[in-house]
Amino acid sequence: MKQRILRRLDRHVFSKWRALLTVIRGTNVRRWAKNIHEVPTWDSRNRVIAALVPPGITVMDIGAGAQTMRQHLKGIALYTPCDLFPTTPDTLICDFNRGILPQVPKVHDLAICSGILEYVVDPDSFFKFVTAWNRGIILSYNVRLAGDSKVDRLAKDWVNHFTLEEIREIAGQHGWRVAKEIHSNPHIPQEMVFLLEPVSA
Ligand SMILES: C[S@@+](CC[C@H](N)C(=O)[O-])C[C@H]1O[C@@H](n2cnc3c(N)ncnc32)[C@H](O)[C@@H]1O
Repeated sequence: MKQRILRRLDRHVFSKWRALLTVIRGTNVRRWAKNIHEVPTWDSRNRVIAALVPPGITVMDIGAGAQTMRQHLKGIALYTPCDLFPTTPDTLICDFNRGILPQVPKVHDLAICSGILEYVVDPDSFFKFVTAWNRGIILSYNVRLAGDSKVDRLAKDWVNHFTLEEIREIAGQHGWRVAKEIHSNPHIPQEMVFLLEPVSA
């Protein structure tokens, strides 16, 4: 019993410490430098996203990481990865938290934003960039559920905390309507994938 209480206390203190670190440090550069060499544990989400992408279109993968998405996408016309780190030579380098935007040569049919929005300090500027350079968006996001602690989210390096309703609102403010909402992992209720279409279409 005592051991269990101590363990729980330990976890609580550790979580607070990690949250504080996120607030002070911002982008966890060391984590992402490592991440580009590993198949991500969340790759099933990337398969869910890829299944929504029709062949023949141009795709910008924003926060592309290890680029497993590249293999999941079938028959697309162009794949343009953007990230902090150049997993491949064609990666457009960017850092949305330091105002360094990818130097995109042309508008793409679709932006895939898989596991990036949670780490972006200024989501409005992020949406502005994505909207300016893409005709469609597939966005993943771990929505904040009732009772979820912001400290626990910060401990995961997540720097924003939108509910499902707030995600719909932000998309709307930037001219997008949610055409599809998918729970991409039955074991992670907050993990969602949104297919966004321009309101004007
Ligand atoms: C959770 S991983 C997702 C990787 C990939 N999209 C996937 O789903 O497998 C987050 C990615 O976002 C990138 N990232 C984090 N902060 C960023 C920032 N401020 N600007 C640009 N990319 C960033 C990281 O380098 C990392 O590759």
